[in-house]
Amino acid sequence: MGKLSVFLFVLSFYTIVNAGSGSHSLWVLATYIIGETPFPEFTVVLMLDDVQVGYYDSNDKQSVYRGQHRKVKTEDEEVKDGAYVFEHMNHHIKERSFQLKHHFNLTRGVQVQQRISGCEMLDNGEPAMIMTMDNFNGIFADYAIYYNMTHFIYDAGKLLQGWNGIRQAQNKIIIENVLLPMCIKTLKSFLKREKNIVMRKVPPRLRLIKKEVSGGFQVSCLAFGFYPRHINLTLLRDCQPVAEQELTGGQVLPSGDGTYQLRKSLEVSTEELKKRHNYTCTASHLSLDNKLDVSWESGAEKVHLSTLSVLLVMLLIVILLGIFICVKRRRSNTASQLKLANVDANVSEEMNFSSDSET
Ligand SMILES: *[C@@H]1O[C@H](CO)[C@@H](O)[C@H](O)[C@H]1NC(C)=O
Ligand SMILES: *[C@@H]1O[C@H](CO)[C@@H](O)[C@H](O)[C@H]1NC(C)=O
Ligand SMILES: *[C@@H]1O[C@H](CO)[C@@H](O)[C@H](O)[C@H]1NC(C)=O
Ligand SMILES: *[C@@H]1O[C@H](CO)[C@@H](O)[C@H](O)[C@H]1NC(C)=O
Repeated sequence: MGKLSVFLFVLSFYTIVNAGSGSHSLWVLATYIIGETPFPEFTVVLMLDDVQVGYYDSNDKQSVYRGQHRKVKTEDEEVKDGAYVFEHMNHHIKERSFQLKHHFNLTRGVQVQQRISGCEMLDNGEPAMIMTMDNFNGIFADYAIYYNMTHFIYDAGKLLQGWNGIRQAQNKIIIENVLLPMCIKTLKSFLKREKNIVMRKVPPRLRLIKKEVSGGFQVSCLAFGFYPRHINLTLLRDCQPVAEQELTGGQVLPSGDGTYQLRKSLEVSTEELKKRHNYTCTASHLSLDNKLDVSWESGAEKVHLSTLSVLLVMLLIVILLGIFICVKRRRSNTASQLKLANVDANVSEEMNFSSDSET
């Protein structure tokens, strides 16, 4: 159950991250666990875009940052700030989870309260939004807060009684004037430190793959090894984009080495494949000045096959010719060897003769 909820949580996190291009964001993913598990009661993962930059848990009570080059004093300050913020969060999330536990009369087992909090900044340095979202046991969406510079949205959720108007107004002020500037400031400092990772541009590699499946073929367009994760990948049939609903796949997935991959597949019947179509896979990515594409023509198989058979016949002819020539050579060789032998015989005869004459 824990695994599932973490999975759901991370999934929703990726949907959020996916939304941003031309922007950067900082996220806190916090988990509070009630009950006996091998994990610390409270854990925090800090993400800059899609890169983990920090970790904190209730056992250590120390925020750990990736890289660990903490020579500058201000950075120690940062670690302390982090620990303070996370401890505060721990307290709040714990309270919430115990309230929910009682609300649902859950006296036994493991309960998990999770939270995503973060902010987003545009490439020009302007703050774009801040939000927080809670989740109980990976199934129940708890409350959510969202502020995007023009709108403040508070969703009390359906689990517990929400805030009244005054409390909402108070929180809006705190979020707008304290939490958002603080989050953006932290985001900027992480961005500066991690620019070699989160601002790197790695172009995709592109493949067009044809695979036999039951009932026909699958033509897949695969882009891999790229960063950042935002990519436009289109499969064209005779220069026309294939409609998204005809395609399967289409989810950008991490490759495990810090890059991403995306596959879009089209089911094609054997009859359809025999027709002459030009399939093209085209990609545009931040790292590329121009579009990248690979093409493949279906129905060209027959041509290939006939070319192949012509080649085979030619090869056969060459081989036969080779054998013929070889045999002929060997024959003439034996003939000349015989001739030579004859000459030898004659010479020896002559020698015999001369020796005879000498005697
Ligand atoms: C929890 O228990 C109380 C009292 O036994 C009951 O009134 C309430 O409906 C229960 N709540 C749930 C969600 O089952
Ligand atoms: C803020 O959110 C609201 C509601 O979702 C939306 O209508 C509005 O366009 C958003 N504003 C900006 C600047 O993104
Ligand atoms: C297939 O289509 C692409 C783009 O639509 C084009 O660039 C390419 O030349 C075409 N290939 C063939 C073999 O027709
Ligand atoms: C993808 O396409 C959209 C719409 O055409 C465009 O705004 C965006 O910049 C493109 N993204 C990339 C990475 O090329």
